[in-house]
Amino acid sequence: RNFSIIAHIDHGKSTLADCIISLCHGISDREMKSQIMDTMDIERERGITIKAQSVRLTYDKDGEIYILNIIDTPGHVDFSYEVAKSIASSEGALLVVDATQGIEAQTLANVYTALDADVEILPVVNKIDLPSADPDKVLEEIEDIIGIDCTENSLVSAKNAIGIKELCDNIVDKVPPPTGDINAPTKAMIYDSWFDNYLGALALVRVFDGSLAVGQTVYVYSSKKEYKILGLMYPNPLKHTDTKNIFAGEIGIVSLGVKEISEIMVGDTITDAKKRCDKPVEGFAPAKSFVFAGIYPILTDEFENLRDAINKLILNDSSISYEPESSMALGNGFRVGFLGMLHMEVVVERIEREFNIDIIATAPTVVYTINLTDGTSIDIQNPSEMPLIQKIDKILEPYVLATIITPNEYLGNMIKLLTDRRGIQKDMKHMPDNRVLLEYEVPMNEIVIDFYDKLKSCTKGYASFDYDFIDYREGNLKKLDLLISGEKVDSLSVIVSEEKCYSVGSALVKKMKELIPRQLFEVTIQASLGAKIIASERISAMRKNVTAKCYGGDISRKRKLLDKQKRGKKRMKPIGRVDIPQEAFTAILKLD
Ligand code: GTP
Repeated sequence: RNFSIIAHIDHGKSTLADCIISLCHGISDREMKSQIMDTMDIERERGITIKAQSVRLTYDKDGEIYILNIIDTPGHVDFSYEVAKSIASSEGALLVVDATQGIEAQTLANVYTALDADVEILPVVNKIDLPSADPDKVLEEIEDIIGIDCTENSLVSAKNAIGIKELCDNIVDKVPPPTGDINAPTKAMIYDSWFDNYLGALALVRVFDGSLAVGQTVYVYSSKKEYKILGLMYPNPLKHTDTKNIFAGEIGIVSLGVKEISEIMVGDTITDAKKRCDKPVEGFAPAKSFVFAGIYPILTDEFENLRDAINKLILNDSSISYEPESSMALGNGFRVGFLGMLHMEVVVERIEREFNIDIIATAPTVVYTINLTDGTSIDIQNPSEMPLIQKIDKILEPYVLATIITPNEYLGNMIKLLTDRRGIQKDMKHMPDNRVLLEYEVPMNEIVIDFYDKLKSCTKGYASFDYDFIDYREGNLKKLDLLISGEKVDSLSVIVSEEKCYSVGSALVKKMKELIPRQLFEVTIQASLGAKIIASERISAMRKNVTAKCYGGDISRKRKLLDKQKRGKKRMKPIGRVDIPQEAFTAILKLD
């Protein structure tokens, strides 16, 4: 039985996977630790799943042995591409809903993906051990809102291992066994890939037809290359087990001895080199970057180290895209593409932590399509690439369909926030438990700029949110530039809607005034639209003598203070004569 576990963030997917692994003795009790499927440090620290993981288990039901393949999926919207591919590799999906929270926005997004893939959905109400759990209400909600029959359901507590055996029995009974012709030409879909230091790039595949064998020569559709299979394994979070074959219906790991992960793309099809399948698995499109930001080393001589770091991260995460970019203000760096805001945060944090490089990340932006007056069009990922206004015919910006679930009492706040973000209401439904489901079309630009934080603060953290790209539409947009001491700083430019230019401009210069420390001379900060200055602030001069406190002649104490000041400076980037801290480059994300 191949099944994915889908849920809104924190509803307990990883804990449930742990529990099923324990029941099936997939990992010995001694080696078991919580959230065993979350293998990255960042995943364990933040308690979130970033990469989908799989495990093959054996389960004994009434003396009959079944193979269970679990695919633990990431819950965050940025990684919905992996969720879709995981579901496409399964025949079933466990829809985990927290008994104290009910359906949330990502529950819906994931369910729609599962419904599209036509897999069997098993509702699982988790956390029934909590005193505030109300499983009956949650089941009613699943029936009313999603329309899934809940007469046969599983009520579990993943934390206390309650109801897990019954759930596994249910999986065996309800999820259909895989079908596929074992004698047909090999057809296997890659649904995940990563880099192993010893084995090179590895592909996690679901075999639909035929089989894979060690030594077999295979053909990969999108790279149009042939490879010899060096090894095959069944997945396990601690130690994968070697095997000689993987047959139709099974999942497994394929080692092709490839050095570049870009040759092993998620969604691609592997077939036999001599006896190819009639057509690849449908729906392959490489993961697409939606959010872009400039990443620059603070110390210019770390440029090559930064390139190495990004290349190493790409080995494990083929959804990162990058190209070199140079900025008048920041020097040489890279324009990096991410799946979304959380993805960007994680990558930036990994560069700083795992590679120890201090970097400046500019404010995130979406891709705009500019139709020029000469009839051609260009895509821009950086506000500083915006052509002169005389050359622009139209600016098109990406729109998303945002789904929000909020308690009734915050509905007014939510509608105000969405209207303020240029949202267009498409639907509003009242749910049985005093909550409302809203659907709005919103420009993506308004979502990448601190929408999530604002949503959380205006609903005291109770609303949930998900979005899906729809299309490109014409926008009334302008490039807002910032000048520091009279000099335009290209990496501080932002694109905003015309109606908000003045309010954003004045809020931005005020925020910069707060963020930029006083210098030894007066600094002016201005916002401009073309040549017109629309807002301005001044930071008055200050003479800072850090050693003034050290009366007396203790030289070692003086050195310590100077060292401290130097370390503080490391996080600053000198622009002209002014030292600018990292936070100032993303000031747009922190406007009140
Ligand atoms: P992401 O990986 O971020 O998508 O989250 P997830 O859905 O995998 O949730 P995770 O398993 O990390 O659980 C979230 C939190 O809920 C953790 O603190 C768990 O300990 C807790 N939790 C999970 N299941 C139960 C349960 O049955 N009862 C109680 N009381 N807590 C639970």
